[in-house]
Amino acid sequence: MARLFNRNFIVGVTGSIAAYKAAELVRSLIRDGANVRVIMTEGAREFITPLTLQALSGHEVHTDLLDTEAEAAMGHIELARWADALLIAPATADSIARLVQGRADDLLGACALATPAPIFVSPAMNQEMWAKQATQDNVQTLIARGIAILGPSSGSQACGDVGAGRLLEPDDIVSAIAEQLSTGALAGRHVVITAGPTREPICPVRYISNRSSGKMGYALAEACINSGAKTTLISGPVSCEPPAGTTVIEVETTQQMFAASMAASATADIFIGAAAVVDFKPATVSDRKIKRSGVKTMNLSLVPNPDIVASVAGSESRPRLVVGFAAETHDVQAYARKKLASKSLDFIFANDVSDQSIGFNSEKNAGVLIGRNSEITMPMSSKRVLAESIIRELSNVLG
Ligand code: PMT
Repeated sequence: MARLFNRNFIVGVTGSIAAYKAAELVRSLIRDGANVRVIMTEGAREFITPLTLQALSGHEVHTDLLDTEAEAAMGHIELARWADALLIAPATADSIARLVQGRADDLLGACALATPAPIFVSPAMNQEMWAKQATQDNVQTLIARGIAILGPSSGSQACGDVGAGRLLEPDDIVSAIAEQLSTGALAGRHVVITAGPTREPICPVRYISNRSSGKMGYALAEACINSGAKTTLISGPVSCEPPAGTTVIEVETTQQMFAASMAASATADIFIGAAAVVDFKPATVSDRKIKRSGVKTMNLSLVPNPDIVASVAGSESRPRLVVGFAAETHDVQAYARKKLASKSLDFIFANDVSDQSIGFNSEKNAGVLIGRNSEITMPMSSKRVLAESIIRELSNVLG
């Protein structure tokens, strides 16, 4: 399971005997799909080497606030902005007190102050230290500021005491965070997306298709996953890597995409048709390779395929939002508006596929998201950024 797919985590490790558990914590976050950068305080480095956490996270460990080399690679402000979450684990009594005071004289404190991301703190300390009023007051202050405190748990401690103050198990920390972060704009929603081309066979070796790479549809799926949606991708033959956590249904022909879309959209809140669907198929498919020799003219008789997005929009179990894409080469918006109406869609994204730098098989796209009473121009950007903008608009409408 990749509950934290593509989320950027800073793990701040402070000077506790439980620092060795940070190794398992980093592994567990990465197993769950997160990207992890580690900050170690001076105290933490007495208990575990940066090399261990560097090997596990795949990135150099950040240690010093005033290290010009590290600042040149990724400065502390950049690091703080990069993070989707800051997790301090284990957090000592001293590091909690420093957080309360807003101290910024080390890298972890500076990042905690500079990051707009949510902060999670997993305390680990001797049970007497945890029970002391000063610590409890500090913890209450952090909670009042919106910082989540995860743990501690109770049991026998490294110092021989028994009581509350043990670091939560790494998997339990990750599960608690995943639960708290699964509150994206589309949490609890189901989005179905079609992507890529379809193929219509002519004979066992030839087919009719188009230049769709699937990049736009896959970028939309990633944006949906990042927004917490259950995401189903109905994909024609492409070489894109599906985002972790997506349910992928691989199809080839329009008829297969149609059947999969009708079934999946029955439980969907949003259906997005980003696929470049082949509209006509050969009336008959030869079961043998069609030979060239002696053929002067070849005529292909074609029959129409079903219109997938229009059928979803007209179905009894219509998703609340049905969204199409209009691939046009001229009069782009006018044709897109006609399709919005004729297919009974809620939105259509009009893109100009005559422009080689956007649309089919490029990394970028641009266009206008047209609703029944709205129009939002989206300037050229990566398909990933564009997909995020589209999904943000749709989730706002869904409420
Ligand atoms: O895959 P990429 O290389 O990243 O390129 C992205 C893209 C250009 C394919 C994408 O941005 C796009 O425009 N997709 C729609 C392509 C298309 O088929 O457009 P259309 O104008 O022919 O169809 C309008 C809408 O009806 C689309 O949502 C399409 O999925 C849908 N349709 C069309 C025909 C059909 N038989 N069934 C359908 O559902």
